[in-house]
Amino acid sequence: MDIFLERKSVRKYADGDVKQEDLEYILRVAMSAPTARNTRCYSFLVIKDKKTHKKLAAVHKAAQMILQAPLAILVVGDQNKAYEQYLPQDCAAATQNILLAATAKGYGSVWCGVYSNEERSKAIEKLFNFPKSIKAFSLVVIGKSADNNMPKDGWDPEKIKYEIWE
Ligand SMILES: Cc1cc2nc3c(=O)[nH]c(=O)nc-3n(C[C@H](O)[C@H](O)[C@H](O)COP(=O)(O)O)c2cc1C
Repeated sequence: MDIFLERKSVRKYADGDVKQEDLEYILRVAMSAPTARNTRCYSFLVIKDKKTHKKLAAVHKAAQMILQAPLAILVVGDQNKAYEQYLPQDCAAATQNILLAATAKGYGSVWCGVYSNEERSKAIEKLFNFPKSIKAFSLVVIGKSADNNMPKDGWDPEKIKYEIWE
């Protein structure tokens, strides 16, 4: 399986949990993402509680699939630890690693954007009573896929230029 080309956004889930050992692998891969000046400003809030899933669905209209899924990971960054303004890039790299690691372990997943939607991020930060420096970046929903769609083929030679822009 080529996890890089087979990853796709999955928004329909079958019954079944994410195994603890798989979750740990996914988080280990998340923490292997690069960060500017190696600040490792990210943290990961694992959320399995259906009551919390309902609260998240109420404040994130584009994350309704969370209601069917066994688990979500909220990727957050600590503004006090991040180098300059690189918190979003650091958290984005970790988020992408989560998606690829979940694919590698046979799960479906989807990146639900939080940053830089002010209304969503404020609502989520309030929901978890985060200290001021902790910024909600993305909500990754993970579960056994019930989606038979093919991954999109993003290959487009027109997006590549060599040496000069023309
Ligand atoms: C920054 C960002 C925010 C996104 N937010 C959402 C979201 O809130 N809800 C959702 O269902 N998908 C969301 N997506 C997933 C995109 O819709 C998806 O990646 C895109 O349509 C391409 O499809 P693919 O992931 O299957 O290749 C987001 C993706 C990114 C990178």
